[in-house]
Amino acid sequence: MVVSSATIDNLLREREQYPVPDVFREHALVRDDRLWEGAERDPEGFWAAEAEKLHWIKHWDKVLEWNLPFAKWFVGGRLNVSENCLDRHLRSPRRNKVAIQWEGEPGERRSLTYHQLWREVNRFANVLKGLGVRRGDRVTIYMPMVPELPIAMLACSRIGAIHSVIFGGFSAQSIKDRVEDADSHVLVTADAGIRRGNLIPLKQTVDEALSGSEIVQHVIVYRRAGIDVPMYPGRDRWWHELAAVADRTCDPEPMLATDPLFILYTSGTTGRPKGIQHSTGGYLVGVATTSRYIFDLKDDDLFWCTADIGWVTGHSYLVYGPLANGASVFMYEGAPDWPQPDRWWSMIEENQITILYTAPTAIRAFMRSGEEFPKRHDLSSLRLLGTVGEPINPEAWRWYHRTIGGGRCPIVDTWWQTETGMILITPLPGSTMTKPGSATRTFPGVSAEVVDEHGRPVPVNKGGYLVITKPWPAMLQTIFKDPGRYNEVYWSKVPGTYFTGDGARTDEDGYFWLMGRIDDVINVAGHRIGTMEVESALVSHPKVAEAAVVGKPHPIKGQALVAYVVLKTGVARSSELSKELQRHVRAAIGAIAVPDDIFVTDKVPKTRSGKIMRRVIRALVSGQDIGDTTTLEDAGAVEEVRRWLKEVEGDRPSA
Ligand code: PRX
Repeated sequence: MVVSSATIDNLLREREQYPVPDVFREHALVRDDRLWEGAERDPEGFWAAEAEKLHWIKHWDKVLEWNLPFAKWFVGGRLNVSENCLDRHLRSPRRNKVAIQWEGEPGERRSLTYHQLWREVNRFANVLKGLGVRRGDRVTIYMPMVPELPIAMLACSRIGAIHSVIFGGFSAQSIKDRVEDADSHVLVTADAGIRRGNLIPLKQTVDEALSGSEIVQHVIVYRRAGIDVPMYPGRDRWWHELAAVADRTCDPEPMLATDPLFILYTSGTTGRPKGIQHSTGGYLVGVATTSRYIFDLKDDDLFWCTADIGWVTGHSYLVYGPLANGASVFMYEGAPDWPQPDRWWSMIEENQITILYTAPTAIRAFMRSGEEFPKRHDLSSLRLLGTVGEPINPEAWRWYHRTIGGGRCPIVDTWWQTETGMILITPLPGSTMTKPGSATRTFPGVSAEVVDEHGRPVPVNKGGYLVITKPWPAMLQTIFKDPGRYNEVYWSKVPGTYFTGDGARTDEDGYFWLMGRIDDVINVAGHRIGTMEVESALVSHPKVAEAAVVGKPHPIKGQALVAYVVLKTGVARSSELSKELQRHVRAAIGAIAVPDDIFVTDKVPKTRSGKIMRRVIRALVSGQDIGDTTTLEDAGAVEEVRRWLKEVEGDRPSA
C-alpha cells in the first residue's frame, strides 16, 4: 500500500533548551554519551550485555534472528518473568524491600514487600493451575487498580500462561470480543472497582459479556468492594477461597525467550481491535533496560507511573520494568481529582514519591484547575518527571517543570506505542539536554528515521513519517492469530522498516519532534498542518486549558480547521474570545493555521485513557457516522459537539 502524503509542514519552532542540572547529573546512572556510542557500534552487543543482568535458566544461543517482519530475540534462551521480577530479589537485600505501595481511592493503604508479593504470586499461580490453566493458555484479566491485578499477571507469567488484561473501563461487548479473539477459558475480575466514590460493577459487566457464551469456563472474583454479586455455580469462584487452600509454592516454568508473555488489545484504523502479542525474553530485556536508564532507578526511589495497568504503560512501567529492577512502585486506585484536585500532590508528599511518570492530558487537566492545588503540598521529594501518550505542548511542559518539578527535576518526554512495548525515543535524564515539546533522541540501541512515502530520509525540519529501522527487543511479535495483518499494518508501508503511523521531524540537533498520528494531519489549501501544532498554539493562550483541532471538508480549501476549546476554570466565555484565539494562532503559527471555527465547550470527546477522540469530532463535523465509541469516556461530550454544530448551522447558511 502506498501512503498518500508527502510532507508535513512544521510550523511551530521551539528554541528553548534545558541543560541537565548538575546535581542530577552527578548521581545519574548515565551521565554522558558513551552508552549511545557503544550501542551504535554494536546494538546486538548492547542488548546482550543488558540481557546478562537478568536471570536466565538457559543462556541464549543467538541474540537476534531477523526474518523480516518477524524478529526472534535471545533465541534458545530460557527464563521466567516472575522469577526475574520476584525470586531474584529474594536472594538479595531487597527481600524485605517494598515492591508495591498501594493506596485505595477511599484512602486505605497496603504495602507488599518483594517477599510478600512473591508469596501471593505463588499462591495465585497454583490457583490458576488448579483450574487447569497450562503453559500457552490465555487468561483474561478485567480488574480494578488493586495489587491483585499485577499479582494475577505475574502468576500467569510464572506458569507460562499468556495474559490479556482488559482495561476496567471497557464495556461488556469489548470484553466479549477480546475473550473470543483470545479464546480464553479463564477470566479474573473483581466484584467492583471504586472510582470517584462510585462503584464500577465489574462482575456485572463480565456476566453480561459472558452471557450466552461457552468460552469462559472459570471466573475468579476478587472481593474489592465487598458488595453482593451473583456467583454462578460451577463457573464463578472467590479469589480468597481458592487462594486459602492453594499450595504455597509454585516452581517458575522455564519459558523460551520467544514464547509469548501477553496480548494487549489496541484499536487500529478499523473497528476491530488488534491483539498485540509480546514476547517473554526480548520484552523483559527491553522494559528492564529502559526503566533503569530512563527513570534512573535507584534503590531508594519510589516510582509512580500513574497509568492504569490496563494500558501498555502500566504493563511495562508499573509492573514488569520496575519490578525487574527491584524498584519500589507506587500504585493508586482512583481518580486524580478525588476527593479534591490535590489528591495526587498529597500522595506524593505523604509517600515521598521521587519519580512521577504521567500523561500530558493529566498535566493539562491540573493546569486547568489551577496552581493552588499543587502549591498546598511539599513536592520536594520529586527528582524526576516523565510524560507519555501524546505530544506534550511546550506550555504544559513548562508548567510541569515549574509547578510540579520546582524547576529542579528533568523531564523525560518518552515516545513509544503499545506495539513497541518499550520506550524508543526519550531523553536520558542525566545526559540529554531537553527542549520542551521534543522527545529528543532514540534510546541506545534503537534506530529511527523520518522518511517520505518512498522511504527516503527527509531533510532537517521537514515533516515525514517516523519509522524504526532496526528490530528492538520489546517489539511486538505479531498480531495474535493474524500475522498477515501484522505485516500489512506495520511492515508494508515503507518496506523494510517498522511504520509507526506517526508524523515527525528532526531538528538541526537530530532531536525528534512528534507531530501526532498521520491521520490527525490536515491538508488545508495544500499545506499539511499537524493538528497538534494548532492545539499547542491554542493551549499556549492563558485562557485555554485544552484544545482539539480537526479538519472539516471545505469547498475551496479542501479542508478547513475546526477547533474545540475548553477554557480554564473561572474564565468567562465571551463573544470576542473566538476572534482573540484566532489572532493568537495567527501570531503563533501563521494565517494558514487559523481555524475557521472555534467552539468553546466544556468537554471534548476523549478515550478512557485521556486521548482526544479527533476521529469522533471529525466525523461529527463532517456529518458522518461516528462509528465505534466503546473507548469513549463520556457520551455527553458528543452531545455537546452536536449541540454546537446545530447552533452554528442555525447561524449561517450552509456552504
Ligand atoms: O501517536 C503516538 C502517541 O501515542 C501513540 C501510541 O499510543 P498507545 O499505543 O496507546 O501507547 C501510548 C503509551 C505508550 C503513538 O503512536 N505518543 C505516545 N507517546 C508520545 C506520543 N506522541 C508524542 N510524544 C510522546 N511522548
